[in-house]
Amino acid sequence: MRSTTQKIIIDTDPGQDDGVAILLALASPELEVIGITTVAGNVPLALTSRNARMVCELAKRSDIKVFAGCDRPLKKPLVTAENVHGKTGLDGIDLPEPTMPLQAQHSVDFIIETFRNAPEKTITLCTLGPMTNIAQALMKAPDIATRIQKIISMGGGFFEGGNITPSAEFNMFVDPDAAKVVFDAGIEIIVVPLDVTHKALTSATWIKELRALNTLVGEAVASWTDFFERYDKEKYGSAGAPLHDPCVIGYLVAPHLFTGKQINVEIETTSELTMGATVADWWKVTDRPKNAYFLNTIDRDGFFDLLTERLSSYSA
Ligand code: RIB
Ligand code: CA
Repeated sequence: MRSTTQKIIIDTDPGQDDGVAILLALASPELEVIGITTVAGNVPLALTSRNARMVCELAKRSDIKVFAGCDRPLKKPLVTAENVHGKTGLDGIDLPEPTMPLQAQHSVDFIIETFRNAPEKTITLCTLGPMTNIAQALMKAPDIATRIQKIISMGGGFFEGGNITPSAEFNMFVDPDAAKVVFDAGIEIIVVPLDVTHKALTSATWIKELRALNTLVGEAVASWTDFFERYDKEKYGSAGAPLHDPCVIGYLVAPHLFTGKQINVEIETTSELTMGATVADWWKVTDRPKNAYFLNTIDRDGFFDLLTERLSSYSA
C-alpha cells in the first residue's frame, strides 16, 4: 500500500460500477477525493449527476463537491447504455433521491481552476467514463497539461477487443475525439483496459460476502452487481460480471495487484468500422512514442479482498 495521501478528482458517468469505484475511493485513507465531476455516458448528464450524489450520500459523504460537466461528446452524438445499467443508470436498488446540491461551477471550469491553483503535479485525474470533460478542459486551458500529476482511465482494450463494437470499449467509443486530445497531451496516463477489467469478475461468493456485511452499502453493491451481471453473463456467458471502474481506484491504492507495460496507444477517430479503438502497440512494432502505461493483469482475488475490506468499513 502507498504511504502518502493522493489527491484525486473522479470524473464519472455512474453507472453501478462507477458507484462501487466511488465507494472504494471514499473508504480508502490513501486517497483524498477533492471533487467529483460528472459526464454524460452510461446515461444522460442529469442522471449521472443525480447518481453521483446518491452514491456520496450512501457513503454519508454529502461534503463531497459534485460538479456537472459535458452533456455530449466533443463531436459525436451521445450514445448511452441503459441496456446495461438500467433507465436510471443505477438500477438494482431503490436509494433516496439526493438532497446534497450540485455545485454551480461547471466541471470543466472546476478542473481548470483546481489545477491552476494547486501546486504542480499534486493531483491525479481518475476518469471512469467518456473523457469529454478532460478534453474540454485541456482545449480551454492547455497550460494545465503540465500541472496534472497523472491521469488514470478505465477504457480501451487490446487483447480483449471491444465491448460496444468488436474493436472499441464503451468509454472510448462514446467520445474518441476527447480520448485523442487526452492521449496526445503528453500527460502521464495509465490505462485500465478491458484486458484487466474482464479478469475482475464478480462471483456469487463475493456477493454473499457483501450481503453478510448487513449494511446498506453492502446491500447496494450486491444489488447493483446482481443487476448489471445479467447483461454480462448473457453476453460473455461468464459466471460473474467485470467490475470495470473500481479497478482504477484499486490500482491507485494497491498498484502491486496489477502489471502493465509502457507502450504507444493511439485512438481511432476516423474509421466508422473501428471508431474508438485503442490501437495499442503492445509488441513495439512501431517507433511511435510510448505515451501510456497499459495494464494487462490483475490479482483478481487480491483485488476483491481489498474491495470487501474497504466496503466493510462503512457502518451502515
Ligand atoms: O466499458 C466499461 C465502461 O463503460 C465503464 O466505465 C462503465 O461504467 C461504462 O462507463
Ligand atoms: Ca463508467
